[in-house]
Amino acid sequence: MKLFLDTANLDEIREGATWGVFDGVTTNPSLIAKEGRDFVDTIYQIANIIDGPVSAETVAQDAPTMIKEGRLLAKVHRNVVVKVPLTVAGIQCCKALADDGIRVNVTLCFQPAQALYAAKVGATFISPFVGRLDDVSEDGMDLISRIVKIYQNYPNLKTEVLAASIRHPMHIVQSALAGAHVTTAPLKVYKQLFSHPLTDKGNVAFLKDWETVPDRDIIGQVERWLAART
Ligand code: E4P
Repeated sequence: MKLFLDTANLDEIREGATWGVFDGVTTNPSLIAKEGRDFVDTIYQIANIIDGPVSAETVAQDAPTMIKEGRLLAKVHRNVVVKVPLTVAGIQCCKALADDGIRVNVTLCFQPAQALYAAKVGATFISPFVGRLDDVSEDGMDLISRIVKIYQNYPNLKTEVLAASIRHPMHIVQSALAGAHVTTAPLKVYKQLFSHPLTDKGNVAFLKDWETVPDRDIIGQVERWLAART
């Protein structure tokens, strides 16, 4: 499963990029607004930090303007994936952009059949929102499972399921078990994956025991060992 960062914060993206595990970035108008920076420059900077799909969302509500926004956004960087809402205009726009060879992420998916529309018009990604469904007492992860199943039933549909609105580590585990192709989450959630009491406890115990080893300089020991063999 590919892992995308769900943020427009350049510092977070730079920090995440050093881990070597992230394959792309998703943004939305709310995330862009939160940063208070120029939209296009932010997208350009992100696309230069992580060499993978970077979702940049259109805001026009009519298809012709949305298509124009999408075609222009696609020119900003080769990594840009144009993000459109799951509306009639969004689906029309997705079709036009996909026909141009532009990758599209259809967002705000809350119902399995909506994902069929996105796939039929050539979306590269469909973004079902897990957390927002959980927030209204629906089963967000069930939506992921159902879309994965529907797409598997029709192998000619090439759209990837991008689990979005991810709120905690178990959402990531469940997305992978459900067969999502991608998950996107804030850096804070990915950091939580490192926090396991047994990982921390085990690390402390290993270091304590290591203190009893006479020669603890691994680098020096290996270098001397290698030199002695040549
Ligand atoms: C990503 O594509 C979505 O915009 C994002 O995951 C929404 O997350 P939220 O529901 O936490 O705002």
